[in-house]
Amino acid sequence: MPSNLRIRQMELNDIQAIMEIEGRSFPLPYSAGIWEREKRNSLSRTLVAVDDRGEETADLRGYLNFWLILDEAEIHRIAVKEEYRRSGIAGRLLHEMFKVLRDMGIVSAHLEVRQSNHDAIKLYEKFGFMIKGRRKGYYQETGEDALILAADVKGITQAI
Ligand SMILES: CC(C)(COP(=O)(O)OP(=O)(O)OC[C@H]1O[C@@H](n2cnc3c(N)ncnc32)[C@H](O)[C@@H]1OP(=O)(O)O)[C@@H](O)C(=O)NCCC(=O)NCCS
Repeated sequence: MPSNLRIRQMELNDIQAIMEIEGRSFPLPYSAGIWEREKRNSLSRTLVAVDDRGEETADLRGYLNFWLILDEAEIHRIAVKEEYRRSGIAGRLLHEMFKVLRDMGIVSAHLEVRQSNHDAIKLYEKFGFMIKGRRKGYYQETGEDALILAADVKGITQAI
């Protein structure tokens, strides 16, 4: 992982770079309008991982979007640029998210993942998420099931 990788909040001018990663990572990518709404939505947080060799050349390598609802967090999006996968970037993003959740007194984090997305399931399990349930046929375009995963924030932040 590059030592100059920095995690910070998303800015509006990150949206183009996010959408390029999004388009290669998800069958139904979020539009620019959705990302603009995420930026304005007070429940939503988006962290970005940037290789920060100076503002002129900053390269956005991954992002993580989650919502804060009462004492729970819901992860909605996480993706890393293809050529930088398996170098710990998603792990860094999750690590930062758990620190934010701990500091805000959030108790648990939840997410849904396609049952065929073994890479993501492995990532989440590494961070202490456990499979809690299944939504049959949740993804309408393929009819695939979603697995529901959850993690206990206190337990995770003591371990990381
Ligand atoms: C899932 C995704 C975000 C992982 O990002 P990443 O930066 O490559 O993940 P990391 O390098 O931080 O990996 C952390 C751990 O996750 C697991 N993992 C990640 N990718 C994996 C893979 N391809 N195969 C097996 N395990 C994997 C491993 O346990 C890994 O730890 P290790 O490298 O020490 O073995 C990335 O593959 C991606 O963008 N996929 C497309 C979008 C997507 O499916 N998002 C999830 C939607 S729910």
